[in-house]
Amino acid sequence: MAGVIGLPVRHSLSPVIHAAAFEALGLDWASAAFEVADGDAARAVDGIRALGIRGMSVTMPHKAAVVPLLDELAPSAERLGVVNCIHNDDGHLVGHSTDGAGFVGALRADATFDAAGRRCLVIGAGGAARSIVAALADAQAAEVAVRNRTRSKADETIQLAGPLGSICEEGDDLGRFDLVVNTTSIGMSIGADGDESMPCNPDELHAEQLAVDIIYKPLETRWLAAARSRGLPTLNGVGMLVHQAVEQIRIWTGQEPPVAAMVAAAEAQLAGGR
Ligand code: ATR
Repeated sequence: MAGVIGLPVRHSLSPVIHAAAFEALGLDWASAAFEVADGDAARAVDGIRALGIRGMSVTMPHKAAVVPLLDELAPSAERLGVVNCIHNDDGHLVGHSTDGAGFVGALRADATFDAAGRRCLVIGAGGAARSIVAALADAQAAEVAVRNRTRSKADETIQLAGPLGSICEEGDDLGRFDLVVNTTSIGMSIGADGDESMPCNPDELHAEQLAVDIIYKPLETRWLAAARSRGLPTLNGVGMLVHQAVEQIRIWTGQEPPVAAMVAAAEAQLAGGR
């Protein structure tokens, strides 16, 4: 048994993606979404132990709360102070953070983009940005710059990239970057309130850059569409969503994950409007 804990979690795509992986691997496993209230992470982790649940994805608001409840942290989780994946290894609970590896994996798989030696700009400095910044540095990017509305959070986030980290100020030239990633929620509320804001001005981008938006609802944000119309190759957030799960399936089962089946399951679910 596997699953995901969070709140809200009812519309999480994780159980469907997990189920597709288990089926393609021929494993008799199931996955479910468990609603766990804020403050109830300890009881949920006790439940994982008592029920012998083998793998649990962890989403908001529990990613930091589960950290002190586990027996061991993988280096990825230790560094970020958050866990998005628990592996129950015969009663020994290990916390991992697979978001960053998922992002880098999606770049490789979906855009044949290897971050090594490349100049990367991450817009935003929240939890998703932190995992991406750390993973790009691990992938030996030449530079990992962060641009964020709140400067202090950008300053904190670039620490994760060590000497590769830098700040990109409002007004700085974006032309030198090979990769521009939006990790903010700008663009999620498309059509809802007529919000015209964008993570950066698409006119500052050019066709030799890769534009990535980690949002997958909508599948194409206004910013990503604008980048595409300027000739940039683009990736939406489906790849990161699937590849962070790919890493989790690898950890839980020890088998090579069936990526294509997992992508197909996520896309079918998103197309169904869930
Ligand atoms: P997540 O865990 O998904 O990364 P988060 O931790 O809430 O989400 O981080 C959201 C990021 O989007 C933050 O960097 C936030 O900027 P601030 O640090 O200034 O709060 C950024 N963000 C959200 N809405 C924004 C907006 N309207 N304009 C600019 N930045 C925005």
